[in-house]
Amino acid sequence: MCGIVGYVGKRDCTQILLDSLSKLEYRGYDSAGIAVFSGGGIKTCKTMGRIADLKEKINSECSDLCGSCGIGHTRWATHGEPSDVNSHPHGNAEISIVHNGIIENYQKIKDFLIKRGYVFESQTDTETVAKLLDHYYDGDPMETIRKVLGEIEGSYALGIIFKDFPDRIYAVRKDSPLIVGVGEDEAFIASDVPAILKYTRDYYLLEQDEIAVLDNGKAQIYDKHGALLEKELKTADWDMEAAEKGGYEHFMLKEINEQPDAIRQTISPRISDGIPCFEECGLTAEKLAAYRNIFVVACGTAMHAGLVGKYVIEKLARIPVTVDVASEFRYRDPIIGEGDLVIIVSQSGETADSLEALKLSKRRGAQTLAIVNVVGSSIAREADMVIYTHAGPEISVASTKAYSVQIAVFYMLAFLLAYSRKQISLEECKRLTAVLESVPEKLGEILKSEKTCQFVASQLVNSENLLYIGRGLDYALSMEGSLKLKEISYIHSESYAAGELKHGTISLVTESMPVIAVATQHDLFEKTVSNAKEVKARGGKVIIVTQEDTEVGDDVADHKIGLPSIDDLLMPMLTVAPLQLIAYYTSVLRGNDVDKPRNLAKSVTVE
Ligand code: F6R
Repeated sequence: MCGIVGYVGKRDCTQILLDSLSKLEYRGYDSAGIAVFSGGGIKTCKTMGRIADLKEKINSECSDLCGSCGIGHTRWATHGEPSDVNSHPHGNAEISIVHNGIIENYQKIKDFLIKRGYVFESQTDTETVAKLLDHYYDGDPMETIRKVLGEIEGSYALGIIFKDFPDRIYAVRKDSPLIVGVGEDEAFIASDVPAILKYTRDYYLLEQDEIAVLDNGKAQIYDKHGALLEKELKTADWDMEAAEKGGYEHFMLKEINEQPDAIRQTISPRISDGIPCFEECGLTAEKLAAYRNIFVVACGTAMHAGLVGKYVIEKLARIPVTVDVASEFRYRDPIIGEGDLVIIVSQSGETADSLEALKLSKRRGAQTLAIVNVVGSSIAREADMVIYTHAGPEISVASTKAYSVQIAVFYMLAFLLAYSRKQISLEECKRLTAVLESVPEKLGEILKSEKTCQFVASQLVNSENLLYIGRGLDYALSMEGSLKLKEISYIHSESYAAGELKHGTISLVTESMPVIAVATQHDLFEKTVSNAKEVKARGGKVIIVTQEDTEVGDDVADHKIGLPSIDDLLMPMLTVAPLQLIAYYTSVLRGNDVDKPRNLAKSVTVE
């Protein structure tokens, strides 16, 4: 995800900007750039590649870039490939901006500006904001920014400089993070605290729609109506490593909490006129509707995301979907060919088995679509079409936010596929898309009430074995919950289709074998409850994960985790959060190395 920095003070800002950007490298990026007030104007240097490449370019081509006020950026490509021209800052000799987030209505604004004679160089959504600022600019930066904010939709953190106001930076944010650091006669903006820690520990958290003005080393913050605010100055007491974790104890917990944003960033650029649109990836509704069969091939958590995908695509679009573990698929001589679509799902885009399965599918004549998080990774490059998930870098070995964005993409594919195959109406497609858009807020609520999951973890911590049960979509979620728990807590656990329990496995149930029953689907609720009762009747402890409006008696479960309600079909988007948190807190209580569990690697590039 993109990183923003800015500096106003008395020191040479080029060095400070470069140094601060390097502290945001952990966010992942494919290009970098800075714009500095220099020699009476704004000078920009930007390049595709690493910060080291930017330094080299500054030394060789922009050595006159020196001043005491400027902005900088690391870009994680969303709109438009990684390239010099798509890198930030964007703008002209008068106005320059850096942006983190996604402008959803950028095409409309772009069309408006093109009609007024503007010519666009890049494929980015950000350039439309730079040009819209230019369009409205009348000598009053604050008023111009307010006008622009009134027109742009989506998420943004913006750093803006105007040639007419050297030694001044404007900054705003909505749904993307931004802090304002203050030192002695100097001020900073940054996407995250590590970027400024070397210079100051004091900072303001910029809230939604607030506008910061950094002028001659001082920072003032206004509300959206222009009223000056008295804000609490915070002091970071973390070391650098803790700062990169954003104050969370582990990357895994940080990444679990990043899920609402990751989902927003992944779905919002792909919604057009209220329904999913993947045309930027070369996947039109007609093309999607014409496939004969769909295969999903992946490993581990990504494969579990595929299971949710199978369920929703089959349910809504009535087209068969086969889900395979990549290491099995590549050796089972699969019956695939022309007219089939093979979807490869991978966070890293480097998983050896998934990559080989992709190559095999291509050799057999199938079309391939990659759902991948890491831009430019091998799977992304090899596939015929790519849908990038915008989760940002996932550092913890246990995958969390990548799973959520993968299933979000599957929902969007299912809605579009169902609509294009005339299985649902346009109204229903719009309604479902709107429900998906409501997920981040609901997920945010769940993440705030983590106490119940902490308590459940305390009940599981001494167990050596555990069962997860569920039916339908809940079975797919049970698999993910079980995998998460075993990989980081080292407690042996199995997931079972709830109805299968009595065909053998129930003989394992004793009071020392807790069972987590996932029962979020109303039509299957009573069935799963019956299975939970069978467990209770044999002395087992049951923890039930269900919608909060369902009644659960003492004969069914010992503990209930109640989730806010949305359409049953979309419940997996919420259900996964408590399962991740239970695994996380159990691992913490057992004193394990949560982010780096034993024997595991983040990217499995060997067979
Ligand atoms: C589990 C986990 C793994 C990965 C699997 C595939 O938490 O992280 O099961 O999901 O190794 O990795 P990617 O998605 O990179 O292909």
